[in-house]
Amino acid sequence: VNDMELQRLLSMMTLEEKVDQLLQLAPAFFEGANSAGQITGPLEGLGITEATVRRAGSALGLGGAEEAIAIQDAHLRHNRLNIPLLIMADVIHGYRTIFPVPLAIGSSWDMELAGRTAAIAAKEAAAAGIHVTFSPMADLTRDPRWGRVMESTGEDPWLNGEYARAFVRGYQGKDVAKEPYKIAACIKHFAAYGAAEGGRDYNTVDMSEWMRREYYMPSYRAALDEGCEMVMTAFNTVDGIPATGNRKLMRDLLREEWGFNGVLISDWGAVKEMIPHGVAENERECARKAIEAGVDIEMMSPCYPHHLQELVESGEVDVKLVDEAVMRILRLKRKLGLFQKPHRYADPAAEQDILLCAEHLDAAHEAALRSCVLLKNEQNTLPLNKDMKTALIGPFAVSDDLLGPWSCMGKREETATLAESMSLLAGSSALTAVGCGVESITEKELTDMLTAARSADVVVLALGEASEMSGEAGCRADIRLPGCQLELVQRVRELGKPTVAVLFNGRPLDLHGVLDEADSVLEAWYPGTKGAEAVAELLYGEANPSGRLTMSFPYSVGQVPVYYNAFNTGRPQSDPSAPVRYESQYLDIPNEPLLPFGYGLGYTEFEYGQAVLSSDELHAGSSLSASVSVTNAGSRAGEETVQLYVRDISGETVRPLRELKAFRKITLNAGETKEIEFLLTEDMLRYHHSDLSYHSDSGAFIAMVGPNSREVQELPFQLISGVYGTTTTTT
Ligand code: IFM
Repeated sequence: VNDMELQRLLSMMTLEEKVDQLLQLAPAFFEGANSAGQITGPLEGLGITEATVRRAGSALGLGGAEEAIAIQDAHLRHNRLNIPLLIMADVIHGYRTIFPVPLAIGSSWDMELAGRTAAIAAKEAAAAGIHVTFSPMADLTRDPRWGRVMESTGEDPWLNGEYARAFVRGYQGKDVAKEPYKIAACIKHFAAYGAAEGGRDYNTVDMSEWMRREYYMPSYRAALDEGCEMVMTAFNTVDGIPATGNRKLMRDLLREEWGFNGVLISDWGAVKEMIPHGVAENERECARKAIEAGVDIEMMSPCYPHHLQELVESGEVDVKLVDEAVMRILRLKRKLGLFQKPHRYADPAAEQDILLCAEHLDAAHEAALRSCVLLKNEQNTLPLNKDMKTALIGPFAVSDDLLGPWSCMGKREETATLAESMSLLAGSSALTAVGCGVESITEKELTDMLTAARSADVVVLALGEASEMSGEAGCRADIRLPGCQLELVQRVRELGKPTVAVLFNGRPLDLHGVLDEADSVLEAWYPGTKGAEAVAELLYGEANPSGRLTMSFPYSVGQVPVYYNAFNTGRPQSDPSAPVRYESQYLDIPNEPLLPFGYGLGYTEFEYGQAVLSSDELHAGSSLSASVSVTNAGSRAGEETVQLYVRDISGETVRPLRELKAFRKITLNAGETKEIEFLLTEDMLRYHHSDLSYHSDSGAFIAMVGPNSREVQELPFQLISGVYGTTTTTT
């Protein structure tokens, strides 16, 4: 099917057929559905007719190959022009084999691994009849109250962009049309949803365009540069206008400036939500604003089918806008080969073989091992001695709630519990496990847990948030663990036993009452289908934790947003240990987060030698090298993530205290030393100026090398003139 044939198809479509091609519906609407599907938004009656459903262009959230085939077949039977449905779903961190949540994968600092998890998710989803995933989410996140931070890779624009690219490569391969078992990716939520005020879902976002371009846009742009096929609008406002109806954002920036010609889809119900937002009086106005902004697919609200035809017929909306939107959808259908093969890879037999196959489970296991972050390890309490009597207690001791939010078709019952996995590794009868509730603990549970703890040599507290406590509509104003868990920690501490806390959660938490109480703390996030096995291996030292945080853990919620790449202010705090008045600080808590970006420990120690720069001048067109030797000073092999940051001492606009520019992951045997070299080039020093141009300025900089964003060695250098004015396209 070439473009001319698609044009011919378009010319055969009635206006009604064109308009309904722009509609996306949940499975429940379609003949052939055997499940409710994944319901990820309000399900109010849309008031659409059966005829409209038969003309709809796409479906979301289907439940497997059989259903996808049945729905597609029924649709093609009824659709006058035999236009197949595009089938989409939220395949966020796996389809049936569930990987750690994206924030955890972010902690791996491993793009190959991230891409591999996406490729496996794509393979499983494709076999189950999915054509498009609503992933990756590339929103920059600085507010852990926001439940969706679990779906991001953190607070750094460059690192998020690298992950977004890796996920897109994994889902789409080099060519989504030609490589088998690939699905199209959809970057979201365009734009800046990560900055929702107060960390509350669906809330307002307001920031300068300069801030948006410098920090929030680069990761979406990176995904599009990687060839991401689709974009989803954000729920929030951008410059006072909901993104879904924002022409400047979608037409001027996304389409014209960035040249995006793929499909733009609204989020669930977001077209109609322009009414409560207060920028449209009725559905009709919503439809007009969304199509004018360039929204091709309306997900789960009925403004297009109810009003677009009449808007065109009355001359208020140019039919060209509808035609363009339809053509973009038809082109994607053609690209994915749906006109020839409407079921694409949907195949119940292949689905059986592919889902949860050994290779996928191995990758899930590896991803879980590599994304846990050791936050504290005093007196080498970890790894545990397998023969020591261990009490495993707390809400996640015997829980299968380890997949986390957005776990698509993952099934909890296919996941081992931590107790099961630890008992496979522990010496015979060395482990006693007792569980309890997440938000309340009964007297009996408490008594049983403390009894187990009393007779043990070491206590492992498996703590955390139930998966419903994060994800969409999972925002929290208090980001401490529930009070009953903090009390449990206290009661265990009173026993005076070595204590390890393992955390299962979807956001950076305020860890007071845990980090200061337990001897060791392992952040396991929601580790996925093979998570319990991986965590057990890490606890017993069969593997060495290597994850590093990509979102700061705040000292308290009162600091939020707190992030490593902040500006300095005109009155920076001079000495945190001797505060003086009239400086930028809190009276009651430190400015610094409890745990910084880039932080994480392992079971060995790394020593850094003196870092050096090859020169103290950098000229455009050449490079500077920053090198440092890293030695494994411990007694076992381990993995280190060496990080390079830069600070621009004086810019035309203010510049952050440090910005991540590069990192290297290295594995060192005990006693081994490696020389690490980073190349610094002028293009790494560019930024958005007040006129939104993107270039570097000559002057003073500091390169910083270290194991995390806080413990760095500083290396000053000058960017020599001749560079100023090197403009590139803005992002
Ligand atoms: O993809 C999601 C989006 O991230 C939030 N709202 C619902 C969509 C579809 O399920």
